[in-house]
Amino acid sequence: MEVVIVPDAAAGGELIASAIAHLLTGKPDALLGVATGSTPLPIYQALATKVRQGAVDVSRARVCQLDEYVGLPAGHPESYRSVVLREVVAPLGLSEDAFLGPDGGAADIAAACAAYDRALAEAGGVDLQLLGIGTDGHIGFNEPCSSLASRTRIKTLTQQTREDNARFFDSLDEVPHHVITQGIGTILEARHLVLLATGEAKAEAVALSVEGPLSALVPASALQLHPHATVVVDEAAASELKLADYFRATYAAKPAWQHL
Ligand code: F6R
Repeated sequence: MEVVIVPDAAAGGELIASAIAHLLTGKPDALLGVATGSTPLPIYQALATKVRQGAVDVSRARVCQLDEYVGLPAGHPESYRSVVLREVVAPLGLSEDAFLGPDGGAADIAAACAAYDRALAEAGGVDLQLLGIGTDGHIGFNEPCSSLASRTRIKTLTQQTREDNARFFDSLDEVPHHVITQGIGTILEARHLVLLATGEAKAEAVALSVEGPLSALVPASALQLHPHATVVVDEAAASELKLADYFRATYAAKPAWQHL
């Protein structure tokens, strides 16, 4: 696992957007797995800026969702489908045809989850999966004690996660209890995992995930199993890392040709 400590969220966004641009240069139709929430917004903004500047061609890129609320009315502005269309697909100038997501409104949720795993495989698999991290260590919406081998399925949000996400809704009561999320096993199939964490509230979860034991109690620790996992953290999110100096020195000495 590579840990990169950046000065702030904007620097993290720029670094990861550059990695995506590099990927698309070699594989123009790459499938990008995108996360929602506040953390990845600087990545999407930096990538959209590169597109406007003509620094990267995203016209053949494809985008897929990591997770989705269950039970929000179709077109709800906070459904993750709406968020990804608004924050990623539209700013990059992509069409909805380039977008894959699970159906959170399906009558048969289990079938919708299985269909999404199949769709990802049929699309050739995810090339680069962006991840955020919950204050409880979740990735996607794999809450603590999710199976490390899990596939896309329905999960129940913890009270902590519902409270964390209440800022996107008018009240806590409106935050759904259930979600569809790519499983940890599904996430681990992506060719490159890139987790961005910013802010002091993520420091403990980051330290447990990167330096703690592999444990279902800390779902993001599953990144330790992946052969190409990159964790980008700002100074605040890095503040509980025991090996911070080592991570800084390693990245400072990294040959540029290696990229992320
Ligand atoms: C969202 C997702 C979640 C978030 C996490 C952090 O698609 O998968 O794991 O990444 O809850 O959310 P923020 O970035 O809002 O702190």
